[in-house]
Amino acid sequence: MSPLSVEELFDHLGDSQLEQLVAAFYRGVRSDEILSPMYPADDLDGAEYRLKEFLVYRLGGPQRYLTERGHPALRMRHAPFAIDQSARDRWMELMTAAMQEVELSDEIRQTLEPFFDQMATFLINR
Ligand code: HEM
Repeated sequence: MSPLSVEELFDHLGDSQLEQLVAAFYRGVRSDEILSPMYPADDLDGAEYRLKEFLVYRLGGPQRYLTERGHPALRMRHAPFAIDQSARDRWMELMTAAMQEVELSDEIRQTLEPFFDQMATFLINR
């Protein structure tokens, strides 16, 4: 069986599983000593919503993110945050734990994990 493409993932995950994934990830962020200072303390729900809607769009679902936020330009949008190797690794650790917590299937993880991994490396800016 050939691996799923990134753009096929939304059909397998759906809105609610993505919502659970991102919620689990942000529960980790809240108490993380490296990442929590970077995120807007008064708008963590907003941050959660933006990441979730980005993933809906990028994984092949409805394109609401584009309408609401425009082109993702993620390198530019992350420029204000000092993302070094350890911040990148911590982000990946928390996302990996979140994928485990919500029990994503191996088939989905096989595609989703390398996607996150590569994107996180691409966002290193320090
Ligand atoms: C490498 C470690 C990373 C760090 C430290 C980091 C940190 C942040 C921070 C502090 C924000 C601002 C929160 C907000 O107000 O929205 C943000 C936004 C965002 N991040 Fe990351 N991020 C990382 C990796 C990633 C990855 C791998 C993705 C995609 C798979 C991603 C996607 C996003 C998106 C979509 C937004 C919201 C952009 C917007 O519409 O304004 N980030 N990130």
